Amino acid sequence: MKKILLTATAFLMLFSCQNDQTESTTLPANAIARRSCASQDVLAAQMKADPTLALRMNEIEAFTQKAMLTNRLVNGKVQIPVVVNVLYRTTSENISLTQIQSQIDVLNKDYNAGNSDFNSVPSLFSGVKANVGISFVLDQVIRKSTTYTSWGTSDAMKKTTYGGIAPTSPTTKLNLWVCTIGGGILGYAQFPGGSSSTDGVAIDSKYIGTTGTATYPYNLGRTATHEIGHWMNLRHIWGDANCGSDLVSDTPTHNDANYGVPAYPHYSTCSGTPVEMTMNYMDYTDDRGMYMFSNGQKSRMAALFVSGGSRASFGI
Ligand code: ARG
Ligand code: ZN
Ligand code: CA
Repeated sequence: MKKILLTATAFLMLFSCQNDQTESTTLPANAIARRSCASQDVLAAQMKADPTLALRMNEIEAFTQKAMLTNRLVNGKVQIPVVVNVLYRTTSENISLTQIQSQIDVLNKDYNAGNSDFNSVPSLFSGVKANVGISFVLDQVIRKSTTYTSWGTSDAMKKTTYGGIAPTSPTTKLNLWVCTIGGGILGYAQFPGGSSSTDGVAIDSKYIGTTGTATYPYNLGRTATHEIGHWMNLRHIWGDANCGSDLVSDTPTHNDANYGVPAYPHYSTCSGTPVEMTMNYMDYTDDRGMYMFSNGQKSRMAALFVSGGSRASFGI
């Protein structure tokens, strides 16, 4: 069925181009329009001369479609399978599948310009606000009970020797660990380039998803959006220094992290005194205060997934 459709598509393309060719030879068509279909004109002539060309082109097309599926490209975009590792002592730490899925849903909105607050981005930044185009699909949930009251940030939750859960297929799946971290830490990520045995993101069970134990003002799933930004190589927007650099040119230089929900416009005192992009996911505001990535951040993330990129095993 697919082959028939592809063949039909090839013949439709051939037909439409032949049409153009006919027009261009009978009418004094404008040069730009003719040039735009020149390669199609040549192809049409070659197909007429060699009937096996269409067959070979169909094979190439079928291969391309298959490669897009097996490489997890959906409409030319990256799709990331997510394994959620839940470590619980109390029943409330053993969060529900509904809460887990609510987090996946937030990621799919935030990374695809589908969040309802995306249109709240000030017009000053409307030219750089991004549809990142990376999607997430829940692959599996692994649950394990523990006697630990908190896990800290030393990666113990990722190690069976400490009673944690080792990552599942970390070179092809994003592993999330959901547990009590403690110390006021909402979550933390491993940047690209680290060991695959600890690759992924840890999120405190009180700050994941939008339902169940999700706790205000971090109850909109933006901790995972922010941490997965790090996992995809994004730095904090203030560059982790006073007027530091996040290595992204279309984000303004910030003095420092912003908290709460800053009033707009909030001016930086750094060089040029730009209005800060406090609504960026890579700042530290409350969940309802963050609702955009920039195009420059999108480019950094996309670069990981192309051939030779450090997360190429995930995508394109
Ligand atoms: N790494 C930051 C922390 O643990 C996460 C900040 C996320 N911010 C948010 N609004 N969810 O503090
Ligand atoms: Zn961070
Ligand atoms: Ca910047």
